[in-house]
Amino acid sequence: MPPASHSEIDAAAALLKKGGVVAFPTETVYGLGAEVSSPSAVARIFEIKKRPLDHPLIVHFADASRLSHWAREVPQQAWRLAECFWPGPLTLILPRSRHVPEKVTGGQDTVGLRVPDHPVALALLRELGPDRALAAPSANRFGHVSPTTAAHVREEFGDELDMVLDGGPCQVGLESTIVGFEGQTAVILRPGGIQLAALAEVLDGNVMLSQEAERSVRVPGALPSHYAPSTPLELLPADPLWARALELEAKGMRVAVMGWRRREHSLPRHHPENEPVVFSAMPEEPEEYARQLYATLRRFDRGHFDRLLVEKPPETAAWVAIADRLRRASSRTHPGANAVLRGEQSSSSLTREDENETIYGQTG
Ligand code: TXA
Ligand code: MG
Repeated sequence: MPPASHSEIDAAAALLKKGGVVAFPTETVYGLGAEVSSPSAVARIFEIKKRPLDHPLIVHFADASRLSHWAREVPQQAWRLAECFWPGPLTLILPRSRHVPEKVTGGQDTVGLRVPDHPVALALLRELGPDRALAAPSANRFGHVSPTTAAHVREEFGDELDMVLDGGPCQVGLESTIVGFEGQTAVILRPGGIQLAALAEVLDGNVMLSQEAERSVRVPGALPSHYAPSTPLELLPADPLWARALELEAKGMRVAVMGWRRREHSLPRHHPENEPVVFSAMPEEPEEYARQLYATLRRFDRGHFDRLLVEKPPETAAWVAIADRLRRASSRTHPGANAVLRGEQSSSSLTREDENETIYGQTG
């Protein structure tokens, strides 16, 4: 499908003004949008996503200079970041203004704000006008992998939405970097498209990665199990990974591997049912890897594998956001995170829903 036309964008804006729910592309992932001042549309977003009501939504708008319309206090550092990185994959957490209803922020006094860098998103937001904005979480069910194409959104929600605007595949592929403020210091609550070093340069070093991102219930993306495919996923360095592939293969399991180099020699030619271990060669370069990550996870989910083995990324700054998402995607499967290794443990009678509930129940 070609990217959304002007008339489709106009139609989407009209639907949103009437309280509709429309999925739209951004440079990071697709968002599920509701006009912030429509309580019924905002309520529908939570319902469709099956997202707990106290988990706040990000508010998207077109014009960075309107930041003080949506936030009631804007520290100097926030203005600097907005100037340097908007439109772009950066979300700023600031005290909400009276233009942002409490329902949008899950009852909190702060709001996540972002100007997305995508021509379709910007055209849509401009069409809505300067006094309107879109509350939009990623367009996936709670805890699942974010969508990076319009097809992913349709796959996830069928015709539950009023409209899906197609803007082609997302150029960043991972969710925005979320930054809050503690006094003079900017705190990264979720690593993403913009790296710590880039923020540090603009803020004279006054930025840190939150130690608490892991535990904070306010940031659902920070729950231990999130961004997760349905297929149990294990994250391992190359050597143990291929040993594990062999071990699972020998048990008759269907295994998919995402990594950098195939090691044919370490594997039997074929699965007992004549299926080879499926290998997806991932890009060496982190930007391209990020762009392909979620689409690859979804592709493997559709392939009904018993296990997905992912080669651990390097521990360098450029890979921080990717490593973060992979860790969360694997936390259901790895020991120490309520692991239920399907088909491998005697206690594996729990269903997928049970697992989710256990994990989310613990974190609130
Ligand atoms: O790239 C993105 O950020 C995408 C696109 C669509 O913009 N959106 C996205 O939204 O990832 P969502 O809802 O899937 O994740 C937003 C994150 C959540 O973890 C949420 O808790 C956090 O932002 N957030 C939003 N408002 C917040 C607030 N006031 N305080 C702390 N965290 C907040
Ligand atoms: Mg999300």
